[in-house]
Amino acid sequence: MGLLRYVPAAAGAVSLAFTAKAARTVRERRYYEKQGVTFSRTYPIIGSETDISGLIGRNKTRDYLYLDHPATDFVGSIRGFDIQLYAVNRQATETLTSPAVTGKYIDRDTPALYSFGQLSPSAMTFQKITTENFGDRKRNLGKGFDQERIDEVSARRAAGMCAAFDPRAPLDMKTIAGDYTREVMGEFVWGQDAMRLTVSYKDGRGDVSQVPFMLALNETFTGLRFYSNRFWNRVHFPAATWPVTREARRLQYNIRALQEHLAGLLKDVPGAGTVWEQVATGNGKLGVPLEITRDDLLTASIAGLDTVQNTVLATLWYVLQPENAKWREAIAGGTGDRKDELVEACVSESLRLSPPGSVINNKIVEDFDVDVEGRRYLLRKGTRVMPNIHALHARYGDAFLPERFLPEAKGSEPYVLPFGKGRRSCPGRNLGMVMAKNFVSRFVTEHPEARITNLADKDIHFNNLSHSQLLIAIGPAAAQGGDGVASCPVLPTRP
Ligand code: HEM
Repeated sequence: MGLLRYVPAAAGAVSLAFTAKAARTVRERRYYEKQGVTFSRTYPIIGSETDISGLIGRNKTRDYLYLDHPATDFVGSIRGFDIQLYAVNRQATETLTSPAVTGKYIDRDTPALYSFGQLSPSAMTFQKITTENFGDRKRNLGKGFDQERIDEVSARRAAGMCAAFDPRAPLDMKTIAGDYTREVMGEFVWGQDAMRLTVSYKDGRGDVSQVPFMLALNETFTGLRFYSNRFWNRVHFPAATWPVTREARRLQYNIRALQEHLAGLLKDVPGAGTVWEQVATGNGKLGVPLEITRDDLLTASIAGLDTVQNTVLATLWYVLQPENAKWREAIAGGTGDRKDELVEACVSESLRLSPPGSVINNKIVEDFDVDVEGRRYLLRKGTRVMPNIHALHARYGDAFLPERFLPEAKGSEPYVLPFGKGRRSCPGRNLGMVMAKNFVSRFVTEHPEARITNLADKDIHFNNLSHSQLLIAIGPAAAQGGDGVASCPVLPTRP
């Protein structure tokens, strides 16, 4: 009874703090509006999230909300209680990504920590650039990213998969591309022996079984990303970590199982030539705690899963459109370096039209001025700020024109950032490109007759938050026409 006396006082304190924060957000918004920043439509407490739900429901990411402001340098939004600014043109982006500016004034502070960051919170992806050993850790990862090895592993796996397709039913490319990226990344980072190990995994029905480690990791990673994109978890990011729903508890069960599995595995001797070997050796010399090495390796294992899967899907989607037949024929009939250039141009143009994700969010850690073509902005500490890849890419239109990325177009390519730019950009970009190119090249060469059977589906977009399917008929079925879906057996399901 005694304690109950304090309930109204506590409630009063909470609502006072809430009101003060909300008032500060409104003041900050006015501050940026006076400087000429255009704001997207926002609602009290929930910011722009209602409109973003509409986009996600149509397989688009939140970034599509900020495309329609061609005359602006920054578009503003409200996320939680923070102001979020998106740089939407080249000049504004350069002010944020040039090393001098990034290093000094803005640094990582990302809601992704409450999403897939739960798997590996100490990984470099979520840490500030000023974190002890940050540069060395990123270099160690880079040393493990052996270009020749990823080429060999991915070419071998792509060849094996493409030769084994059953032509009697349309291929579920989402599952196929997911299997491919998981197998390639698993072998590349951990080696074939470690890949064979299993881990305890709780599925959507709540049943627990032993499944391959990379499968549990992939499912948990993707599950975390989708869960953190539910409405209220976007409004208040930490809510995604609260064990208040069955799904949150299931994901946390799987996170614990994966972390325990890796804690044991890391005591073993790493497979020769693996990323594991390189990172464990390099970090070991620096005295980096094992838990941080575990998280950096976890990040390396997952960063190329959904990203490469969606790059493969988007590229096949564009290349196999009937009006793009000349690209498919050129790839299928091409040889040597020219074939490689053609595939690379198609992948690059697909990454322009359908970048899998955004750059990762940063926060201003010290007030600073930026000058964008004579327009001056004073950006305040605490403001979230990042380039909007989709807005930058959209300036070049909707048409699929890979010729922009052929070597002969050098100097006039579009300004694109599917891998970010500057010190925080993606260290795995070359690996991602090789993996995507090897699969697309092999698939189109082995199956030049391939035909998309779900062209008529609504809202097809490929990115890390999309549910879009890609169904492809090959062999005699490809010539038959129709949508082919009637003959499609139950699509393979995951645990
Ligand atoms: C097509 C495939 C890929 C795409 C489109 C992609 C895209 C990105 C983007 C946009 C970022 C954020 C950059 C920024 O905030 O400025 C990033 C970061 C990162 N990516 Fe990738 N990525 C891909 C593949 C990979 C692969 C295969 C790996 C590793 C095996 C990888 C490892 C990482 C890591 C570790 C970071 C964090 C870097 C940091 O925080 O400093 N990525 N990626």
